[in-house]
Amino acid sequence: MKKTEKIISLKKICKSFPLEVGGSQQVLFDITFDIMAGEFVAIMGPSGSGKSTCMNIIGALDTPSSGVYELYGRDITNMTDDELALVRNEHIGFVFQNFNLLPKRSVLDNVMLPLMYRGMSPDERIKRSREMLRRVGLDNFETYLPTQLSGGMKQRVAIARALAGEPKLILADEPTGALDSTMGNEILKFFKQLNKEMGITIVMITHEFDIARYANRLIHIYDGRINYDGPIPASESVLDRKTKATKK
Ligand SMILES: Nc1ncnc2c1ncn2[C@@H]1O[C@H](COP(=O)(O)OP(=O)(O)OP(=O)(O)O)[C@@H](O)[C@H]1O
Ligand SMILES: [Mg+2]
Repeated sequence: MKKTEKIISLKKICKSFPLEVGGSQQVLFDITFDIMAGEFVAIMGPSGSGKSTCMNIIGALDTPSSGVYELYGRDITNMTDDELALVRNEHIGFVFQNFNLLPKRSVLDNVMLPLMYRGMSPDERIKRSREMLRRVGLDNFETYLPTQLSGGMKQRVAIARALAGEPKLILADEPTGALDSTMGNEILKFFKQLNKEMGITIVMITHEFDIARYANRLIHIYDGRINYDGPIPASESVLDRKTKATKK
């Protein structure tokens, strides 16, 4: 995996949402950064600082109000919804805090679902999905319903689903937010392994510095602006000082 391949390029991204009372609220201000292939990036910041809004733009789930976003060198800022859906399905694996599994479908069905849009034969879909479940250590659970699994197992199903499309990029919004620390660490070790051994680029939102430590780079967002972007600092207090210093 070449570290020189630019996967994500955000240039002066701003995002505003209309307010019900009229006018609008600006949530992101001139967000600019690149992410290269093979990076493992943690995004931190207080609640409401704009992390998920930024991630939704990176994941082509939402579009910026201004600025330019290039994914794999393609400007996706002005793509139609259908084009964006194609980009998502081809390039990105998503992992969410609450797993987003279909509760009434088997574990295997859940993993197979995104492959429906790939024009694969049913046999191929089953084979690929079983291989992904084996990879996350759930090969004996394919007939289970998500409700019969622990939180950590559900998240592993979600990761198998994300991996099934063989994405080079995984976006995870608080992937361990609903898990206890043992299960959370298991998931993070797995991410680390995917990143190191398969070169999958990972961008992960988290509230906790101890979780961010699994990454190689930290982007700290404060009030919709980048407050820190660099290697994981030795201690979180660096971010505090920085926050205070740039607050005004
Ligand atoms: N679809 C939307 N419509 C209107 N306002 C929105 C929308 N999405 C987010 N916001 C507003 O944007 C701001 C940032 O929200 P965002 O979800 O990005 O924060 P966050 O950093 O992910 O917070 P948390 O840590 O609580 O998940 C908030 O004030 C939120 O109310
Ligand atoms: Mg959020």
